[in-house]
Amino acid sequence: MKGRKKIAAGMLCCMCILGVNGCGQADSDNSQNVYVGVTYYDQSDIFLNELLDCFKKEIQDLESEEKKISVTIQGAGGSQRTQDDQVKELIDGGCNVLCVNLVDRTDPSEIIDLAREKQVPIIFFNREPVAEDMAQWEQLYYVGAKAEESGTMQGEMAAEAIKANPQVDRNKDGKIQYVVLEGEPGHQDTIIRTENAVESLKAEGIELEKLSYGLANWNRAQAENRMSQMISQYQTKIELVLANNDEMALGAMDAYEKLNYTESTLPLFFGIDGTKVGLEAVRDSRLSGTVYNDKEGQAKAMAKLVEALVTGSGMEDMDFENQKYLYLPYAKVTEEQLEID
Ligand code: BGC
Ligand code: CA
Repeated sequence: MKGRKKIAAGMLCCMCILGVNGCGQADSDNSQNVYVGVTYYDQSDIFLNELLDCFKKEIQDLESEEKKISVTIQGAGGSQRTQDDQVKELIDGGCNVLCVNLVDRTDPSEIIDLAREKQVPIIFFNREPVAEDMAQWEQLYYVGAKAEESGTMQGEMAAEAIKANPQVDRNKDGKIQYVVLEGEPGHQDTIIRTENAVESLKAEGIELEKLSYGLANWNRAQAENRMSQMISQYQTKIELVLANNDEMALGAMDAYEKLNYTESTLPLFFGIDGTKVGLEAVRDSRLSGTVYNDKEGQAKAMAKLVEALVTGSGMEDMDFENQKYLYLPYAKVTEEQLEID
């Protein structure tokens, strides 16, 4: 039942912007109608909703007298089967380009087959298919960011904060007791962010002791839950919380807030993304730092690639790695940096 409700919500999320009659192949006269079909793994994902808002704006900016663009965006409610059906519908509806944020990043074959049959190029985004799948067809592209970069930056920021503030080592044992809140298992950003954050803390000379970790699937409520369990086990022993994204860092902070912890017994919290609420928390000095996942840059790159693929011009201006990957850089965000901007 719960699953069905989610799917229904996904359909509702489907929307057409910029004119109704965008569907069909690009016209052969001077005017062009472009129809972009987008599907993403789950309509409740905060970061992706922000990214897709940017994407809609970028696409809108591409519209002109001669070029009408319409977009349909669907959320797949966490089901790969639903997403496969959505892709089929979008292709049957005549879309010229697909933008796909896979539910299961290891399972794109059905989608690739459907698209190849009708020669509709695919731009995968945010959830990176494995290299062998990307090699299945030459009309497959990826837009995202490099997970290791975000992990390294998070670790460096944490190291800097720890060095600047000896109080973080509350029990004065020369080590930082930490826990990690992890995103979905199997997501490229989960394993790699965690590994690189820890590596870079060590490389900065910080001695660490891992107390525990919690899987929270990028989700604030799940993170609150996991964090509450860890707090009941370790009480004030936790000195640092590394979260694979801002939502989970916020969930961890919610857990402490509900237990009425005072500032002197709170750990440091670090996130990744720089979502709207994430940045607010940095500004209020509740979140010690985050790493900006450049949604504007990624949305712009996707829109530029859509345009290049439908018009057939501009591909040479794209900054591809290995002919099909567009990676946007991450950036560190601390309260001081926000004050300068
Ligand atoms: C973001 C998460 C998001 C996930 C979805 C990650 O890159 O940091 O916030 O939930 O992508 O795939
Ligand atoms: Ca300590």
